Amino acid sequence: MINYNEILEKDELGRDEIRELLAMSFEDAKQLFKKANEVKEKYVDKKTYFRGLVELSNYCAKNCLYCGIRKDNHDLVRYIVSDEDVLKSVRFAWENNYASVVIQSGELQSPAFTKRISSLIAQIMEMTKGEIGITLSLGEQTLDVYKEWRELGARRYLLRIETSNRQLYAKLHPNDELHDYDRRLQALRDLREAGFQVGTGVMIGVPFQILEHLVDDIIFMRDFDIDMCGMGPYIEHRSTPLFKFSGSLLPLEERFFLTLKMIAVLRIIMKDINIAASTAMQASDKLGREKALYAGANIIMPNITPGVYRDFYKLYENKPCTDEQAEDCLNCIEARVTLAGDSVGWGEHGDSPHFKNRMNSDN
Ligand code: 5AD
Ligand code: SF4
Ligand code: FES
Repeated sequence: MINYNEILEKDELGRDEIRELLAMSFEDAKQLFKKANEVKEKYVDKKTYFRGLVELSNYCAKNCLYCGIRKDNHDLVRYIVSDEDVLKSVRFAWENNYASVVIQSGELQSPAFTKRISSLIAQIMEMTKGEIGITLSLGEQTLDVYKEWRELGARRYLLRIETSNRQLYAKLHPNDELHDYDRRLQALRDLREAGFQVGTGVMIGVPFQILEHLVDDIIFMRDFDIDMCGMGPYIEHRSTPLFKFSGSLLPLEERFFLTLKMIAVLRIIMKDINIAASTAMQASDKLGREKALYAGANIIMPNITPGVYRDFYKLYENKPCTDEQAEDCLNCIEARVTLAGDSVGWGEHGDSPHFKNRMNSDN
């Protein structure tokens, strides 16, 4: 019999212990979630912060084998949200005290794209008098581009490593210079150098993934000393090359359960970081985000993309909130947060305490 209590009381967890926790049964995992919830309360408070999510565009230059908006999927309508509509959405978030927005899109690297984002950041800063926190999720860019966006006022950046295992990365992506593991890793380092609060994350339950890869992912995030994390279960999309491996996957509820355990273990190890209850959690379980909050997550990203575009930003199938308008998500989500026993950090930036502590110890 494994003594989980003993593991959960330890100050530091080694590889074997992380593996034991990730392999816990449904019954045993209750202790894990309870412990993660206690750590969350102690280090980041039982508050959930909202980041209004704008899905700026589903154009993407890349061809990740799992993603519904990959370049070679011609079975969807491509869109770009106009500056005016982005500003309208951001205004909604600002006026409703969200305090932060995330600008996300497919990956494009071009001077025109850089310029448009720079201009958008400047307009958002001006409109909100610099009050709203800006998080970017716009993929791999050069160090100079990251610096430009940081200097204009964006504070955080999300770039998932997707998997920290090089061999697995190569199985999930085409093998060319556009999808290079080392380049992605370098981008994470560049973001750090440019002064961003850096978030990364992985997908859970992708084809060919084994438990050991997930243990590596936790260790990767710890050793990289990330400030934020967003993880979610892999959800197959029929218009992607990986769909043909759907038969070899864990059932979706197991991918979901494994993601909950990943969140809890990460919370216990990296006590003061921000962890998102991702939309993919909600897509795989009706109470997905509530459960993620209980297991240690403290960030939710309500969709504020104008309703007309929502149906087209489909990285995976069964994505929630595609029929809603921003107001609907606002009403729905506060009730959900309360249900999970948290309160909403209205009007607070909710920077990761980890980032502040890291800055203090660097100085
Ligand atoms: N299932 C779950 N998550 C996905 N993503 C892309 N495709 C899928 C999928 N089929 C995630 C990736 C990416 C993020 C924006 O969405 O992790 O970084
Ligand atoms: Fe593009 Fe991101 Fe999808 Fe890859 S995961 S195809 S980079 S949107
Ligand atoms: Fe969008 Fe519930 S969060 S409708």
